[in-house]
Amino acid sequence: MKAILALLLALYPLGGVAEAAAAAPLPFSSIVPVPVTATPAAGVTYEITAATTIYSEAPGAGDQLAQLLRRSTGYPVAIVTSPPASGISLLLSGAPAGAEAYQLDVTASSIVVRGNSAAGLFNGVQTLRQLLPYAADSQTVQPGPWLVAGGRVVDQPRYAYRGAMLDVARHFFSVDTVRAYIDQIALYKINYLHLHLSDDQGWRIVVDSWPRLATYGGSTAVGGGPGGYYTKADYQAIVAHAAARNVTIVPEIDMPGHTNAALASYAELNCNGVAPPLYTGTDVGFSSLCTAKELTYTFVDQVIGELAAITPGPYLHIGGDEAASTLPADYATFVNRAQQIVAAHGKTVVGWHDVVNATPLPSTVAQYWGTTQRNTAVANAGRKVIMSPASKAYLDMKYNRRTPLGQTWAGTIEVKDAYGWDPGAYLTGLPSGQVLGVEAPLWTETLRTANDLEYMAFPRLPAIAELGWSPYATHNWTAFRGRLGAQSPRWRVMGVDFYPSTQVTWL
Ligand code: ACM
Repeated sequence: MKAILALLLALYPLGGVAEAAAAAPLPFSSIVPVPVTATPAAGVTYEITAATTIYSEAPGAGDQLAQLLRRSTGYPVAIVTSPPASGISLLLSGAPAGAEAYQLDVTASSIVVRGNSAAGLFNGVQTLRQLLPYAADSQTVQPGPWLVAGGRVVDQPRYAYRGAMLDVARHFFSVDTVRAYIDQIALYKINYLHLHLSDDQGWRIVVDSWPRLATYGGSTAVGGGPGGYYTKADYQAIVAHAAARNVTIVPEIDMPGHTNAALASYAELNCNGVAPPLYTGTDVGFSSLCTAKELTYTFVDQVIGELAAITPGPYLHIGGDEAASTLPADYATFVNRAQQIVAAHGKTVVGWHDVVNATPLPSTVAQYWGTTQRNTAVANAGRKVIMSPASKAYLDMKYNRRTPLGQTWAGTIEVKDAYGWDPGAYLTGLPSGQVLGVEAPLWTETLRTANDLEYMAFPRLPAIAELGWSPYATHNWTAFRGRLGAQSPRWRVMGVDFYPSTQVTWL
């Protein structure tokens, strides 16, 4: 981030970016994901002033907008108890149909966001945020003026599930880093964050009935660092922070493979009764829970039960990928019992698409992570699918051969590649109605810091977010790269590191 700021200062010695941006309101054509309809009103602008107040029928969205504006404008931005004649109103009435739909109207005298739910209002406020001057995202008071372009946006998502995934197992990331990532993804209307909480290299969540999972299994990471884990209070703080931003947490306990951290913590979980050492390398496919032991299912029930109890969202992810050390018949037995356990704790199963090799419950969601457009077992499984094709949506793949971070096993993924596919038509033979949505996974074998996460996620995460939100009829690389280029001044103000792809003209 410092290097980018220094470069920016060198290019704009008068601090010209913020000044130039402040002079004219940001156009509707800069919104990511592109709305269903966005109709500017020529010559109309709303100016946020010291007199601007906010009325909100969903307290969270109104309070967050007020806090953002207070920090950067220095104005009082009071919360008022009835819609101001000249001000900002967030109303739970008059919105277009759809649980997450919203309408935004900006006139010379007012800004009105309408939604049918807190989620709709939150979505509308994210669009409004992208129309505010970049400096509105500053942590310190900035000079203004605070102009917003006039017009109407009517919008709703293509898919109900628009996800990001963070692997906190290969490297551990603090609650603050996860909170910051939630803030970043929420700006692009991502509404699920899948946390990969366990893997060979680390177990990252306290389970009271199996305490060594966290204290021992969580004590290291790829490369041998100190690791770490979330207490239940930490996890609940993440869940609450996410919920306030219309983001639902999907916790994953990866099983029966990817379990060395658990097997190292408890000898009795191993078929031979011997605990392996902790693992800090990056191989996959070498560990398996002992599918023939009844204790394994007691373990799964207690782990899932404790996690389900602190997870308000509907989904619980059981992994199921790369179980190369589990015989196929044992894999099916295990996954089928694990699904029943998740269902008994009131949650809907999500699994990596490998779970179609067992007998997925009718409600089980398969997350497609393959590198090809053909997988007949997944296409014909008759189950809902989350699309995360590794060669398009994996944010840990390098942008090109020179990218200092990341991997290449699924290829390199430039911004145009990440954007250039249709989740509804990607997997041959999968009926488009079976696609629940998209998810952009961020695996962290090579990523250790918040800056590392940001550099790999931005700008590809907004590309995947647009695939999840916007109607495919709006798909257009040239238009998208223009919208994307308009995001970078805000990332600089927010302190978000990003890869300045030469495919995009950055403002
Ligand atoms: C995966 O990348 N093993 C889901």
